[in-house]
Amino acid sequence: MDQAKAEAFGDRMVETLNAGSLALMTSIGHRSGLLDVMAGLAPSTSQGIADASGLNERYVREWLGAMVAAQVIEYRPDDATYSLPEEHAAFLTRDAAPDNIAAFLQYVPLLGTVEDSIIDCFKNGGGVPYSEFPRFQEVMAEDSGQTVVPALLDHILPLVPGLTDSLRDGIDVLDVGCGSGRALNIMALEYPKSRFTGFDLSDEATSVGRSQAKENGVTNLVFEAKDVTKLGTPGQYDLITAFDAIHDQADLASVLAGISDALRDDGVFLMQDIAASSELQENIDNPIGTFLYAISVMHCMTVSLALDGTGLGTMWGEAKARDMLADAGLSRVEVHRLDHDLQNAYYVARK
Ligand SMILES: C[S@@+](CC[C@H](N)C(=O)[O-])C[C@H]1O[C@@H](n2cnc3c(N)ncnc32)[C@H](O)[C@@H]1O
Repeated sequence: MDQAKAEAFGDRMVETLNAGSLALMTSIGHRSGLLDVMAGLAPSTSQGIADASGLNERYVREWLGAMVAAQVIEYRPDDATYSLPEEHAAFLTRDAAPDNIAAFLQYVPLLGTVEDSIIDCFKNGGGVPYSEFPRFQEVMAEDSGQTVVPALLDHILPLVPGLTDSLRDGIDVLDVGCGSGRALNIMALEYPKSRFTGFDLSDEATSVGRSQAKENGVTNLVFEAKDVTKLGTPGQYDLITAFDAIHDQADLASVLAGISDALRDDGVFLMQDIAASSELQENIDNPIGTFLYAISVMHCMTVSLALDGTGLGTMWGEAKARDMLADAGLSRVEVHRLDHDLQNAYYVARK
């Protein structure tokens, strides 16, 4: 045994204990609003921070202890004050989106809620359905609110030459697995002459999208709680989008075949999906590879297996995606990366 290698690994595992704990504490800081409040405060005592955030001082003080030990928040013992440096706030507050890593760290405790069920699946197979993830739709909406919505009009849609002009003139658009419909709501407001439809299995998510559309006063957008496995809408759409909604499908081949069939001859399928290789050894250098495989084990793969699906997994990768798009008749494919989005690739696919 290489003793130095063993010791270095031991150190890394201890760091991981701290890093995992910091993920939990940061998620709490995000959800409770503590990080946002602290970004706007001068150095303050725990009582001052608790008052400013309307929270219980004892809990706030213990949380501050963890965040100081993690060297995220700075502590001045002379007057017992705490501060969040602006260089750290730049990655931890709602104002910092899309760089707000605190929003993504919510996935760590969220995935933890299904650990018992996942262990059971390791023993007996099967999967954990969407309905067992208590805050999934909420966290997902926040995630895409950071990664898709701010970049949609200026960076994502322009990946397809001429698309923004067509949207301005008026075309038919479908978003599959639309979740809470944030992307659709933005597009419906921006392009009033186009007609937008969102399908998602989740009643909870589509109701959120519908309420937002009502609040926005848009009449060119409809949501339906519908399984996209059998779309059955031949030649009805000029543009079909899917934001992080393809790799976790139960029957992906049927979904892609339905999308291909639902597109008009010159239509485009714009798919945001995980930027990964189909070969494990090529994902070792992925800066968030561990996170992506973990989210696969504890969400994307298991929700598919829960429906007796293929359980393709989050890291199906570009080669597999291209093969499956081609099998569905979408053989002209370009793959783009955007600077703001470390996690995803953007596929522009045509018949
Ligand atoms: C990872 S979420 C992405 C949601 C949304 N596109 C976003 O970016 O916020 C995947 C979504 O696909 C939906 N979904 C999964 N399988 C589906 C199916 N067969 N039919 C319709 N929706 C499905 C889920 O309910 C979930 O809302």
